[in-house]
Amino acid sequence: LFAGPVEFVKGVVAMSGLPPADRLEVCFAGRSNVGKSTLINALTGRKALARASNTPGRTQEINYFTLGESRYLVDLPGYGYANAPVAVVQKWQALLKQYLSGRQTLRRAFVLVDARHGIKPVDEEIMALLDSSAVTFQCVLTKTDKISAAARDKVLEQVRQKLAAHPAAFPELIVTSSEKGEGIATLRAVIATLE
Ligand code: GTP
Ligand code: MG
Repeated sequence: LFAGPVEFVKGVVAMSGLPPADRLEVCFAGRSNVGKSTLINALTGRKALARASNTPGRTQEINYFTLGESRYLVDLPGYGYANAPVAVVQKWQALLKQYLSGRQTLRRAFVLVDARHGIKPVDEEIMALLDSSAVTFQCVLTKTDKISAAARDKVLEQVRQKLAAHPAAFPELIVTSSEKGEGIATLRAVIATLE
């Protein structure tokens, strides 16, 4: 599906460190611990390509991966994480915002939302930033293996309702479980067909 190598490129701590903007890229954004890094591993079929952890705040840099020759996949630090020194958190958050609003080749942001929690105010802040930067974003529900069918219906309803207020939101959701493999092929196909 992705012709060419899938591999780690670099971890970036400042906008000046971004690789040349020479191909389209997609990123995974979301609250700390939502499952961004785990989803990257599921998507690429590589157990430890991105470092995942039970401890929120695991990913502290903007991590670039190649998806074949013509795409980058970007793993972002989580937002909404309060258990680190304030100065450190502020530094990641500033970088995250600069990246989300200022990366020319960012073709679509995937905003991951934990199926148990739905869209929180901090997600809406990021979505508003994407709206104002005209970056199309698509919502990905994660960890659906942890909830019942009824809870799933309820969260889907909440998410759809909230997304309707965001002009940059792509209307279709992707419902996933990295644990069970649900939705992974769909997400892979969506990324592979972006031009
Ligand atoms: P930060 O880098 O801190 O922002 O977190 P992250 O969004 O990258 O989350 P990460 O992928 O590190 O996963 C956090 C925890 O959630 C880990 O313990 C994962 O094993 C778990 N997790 C991720 N996806 C799923 C899923 O689909 N189902 C279940 N049951 N657990 C998951
Ligand atoms: Mg991570």
